[in-house]
Amino acid sequence: MLSVMNDVISTKSDEGVLTLTLNRPTKMNAITREMYGALADGLNEAAGDFSIRAVILTSEGDHFTAGNDIKDFMEHPPTDDDSEVAKFLGSLLNFPKPLIGAIKGNAVGVGTTMLLHCDVVLASPTANFSMPFASLGLVPEAGSSYLFPLLVGYQRAARIFMTGESFGAEEAKEMGLVSTIDSDVLAAAQKIALHIAEQPPQAIINTKALLKASKHDAVAAVMKAEFQLFAMALQSEEAMMAFMNFMSKKGK
Ligand code: COA
Repeated sequence: MLSVMNDVISTKSDEGVLTLTLNRPTKMNAITREMYGALADGLNEAAGDFSIRAVILTSEGDHFTAGNDIKDFMEHPPTDDDSEVAKFLGSLLNFPKPLIGAIKGNAVGVGTTMLLHCDVVLASPTANFSMPFASLGLVPEAGSSYLFPLLVGYQRAARIFMTGESFGAEEAKEMGLVSTIDSDVLAAAQKIALHIAEQPPQAIINTKALLKASKHDAVAAVMKAEFQLFAMALQSEEAMMAFMNFMSKKGK
């Protein structure tokens, strides 16, 4: 067992499984720059630590995450490859070991798109996924404009991106975004992670590399293009209006 990286991302490692937990439940685990940085560090350290065989991504409280922290977006819009969010997305894309998502409640924006990079995703029956980028004046990110239509087909992806509509655990399972629904989602994820952690580690790393190989470069290129458009969209009037609308509803 070990350590806590900071108070908004907690980490625990046990029997070869590292758990990275979004730990800002009073703000629905909305992800700040600090949290992206800690997630990137956690993934990078796990990649280089031979004793870590698998990583679980999960959350404290009833929800996975409400996506990027909107106040942070307004005050510190990410614009380049040195931004914490860009570092996190790079670490996610290149993470060489099994990554397991254990998701309950809302998974908004990057809370859903990061799952497209996981190897196994488990959801509680309460899980609710959404990618309302266009509704916020933004564009899809994290390679989702490529990976999501690949998973669900063009029209279904277009409908979900263009309406901002959400979908539940059953639909996510039917899509293949989620493999299992379990009311004790963390325990179920730990069981799978431990099972994987017992396998020969190099064979697992090679298996993941082969599974991801055919799409890796395409995803990297799409992520780069998305990031540029996203950075521009963040400064747009459409996005500013959507953010102000959210902040004023919350009385901020
Ligand atoms: N950024 C910053 N703070 C956020 C947040 C976000 N993305 N999402 C939620 N929060 C905060 C709220 O301001 C609130 O804080 P407060 O109690 O200090 O006012 C707290 O988290 C709880 O959220 P709340 O909106 O009251 O919960 P809800 O159940 O009424 O609504 C959501 C849940 C997810 C529908 C709503 O929070 C929401 O729309 N969030 C924004 C989602 C989003 O657009 N994310 C960006 C994607 S790119």
